[in-house]
Amino acid sequence: MYTGLLHAHSGLRWIVLVLILWAIIKAFSGWMGGKEYTKSDRLSALFALIFTHIQLLLGLVLYFVSPKVQFTADMMKTTLLRFYTMEHLVLMLVAIVLITMGFSKAKRLTDAVAKHKKVAIYYGIGLLLILAGIPWPFRGFGAGWF
Ligand code: HEM
Repeated sequence: MYTGLLHAHSGLRWIVLVLILWAIIKAFSGWMGGKEYTKSDRLSALFALIFTHIQLLLGLVLYFVSPKVQFTADMMKTTLLRFYTMEHLVLMLVAIVLITMGFSKAKRLTDAVAKHKKVAIYYGIGLLLILAGIPWPFRGFGAGWF
């Protein structure tokens, strides 16, 4: 179960990244171009939100089964354990909260440009945090590209 979950969580990152990026591009162009907030804008923001939440659920399960999450005395001193037990969790949770807030704040607004602006800013900051929190292969946490 662990290996399957890990592969799903690892691969899903790409879908999550593409969907968030797509929602940001649409929101940014809507904001800058003063466009209407269409059904397709709402759906792209919604799909990014849904897949980010699925990733959160997979991550939560992994958090309880992963050998890289440990609450031992020297967890803070071990880079790998500290990364997965604290840093990855905190960065991703903050990012997901921001994306969720961006979606629901945009939903409550009536002005189209203001909606685009909310999604662009909240999803934009969320994406930066996610990029910073991913254990990219070059960071030395033993994770792959997929
Ligand atoms: C959008 C959010 C997230 C992305 C893009 C993401 C991405 C990743 C990636 C790429 C890996 C490396 C997988 C590998 O070794 O090949 C990973 C590992 C991990 N993630 Fe996430 N993650 C996210 C959110 C979360 C959250 C919210 C949690 C916890 C609640 C979490 C818990 C974990 C754990 C425990 C591992 C280590 C698993 C292991 O190697 O044993 N992730 N994540």
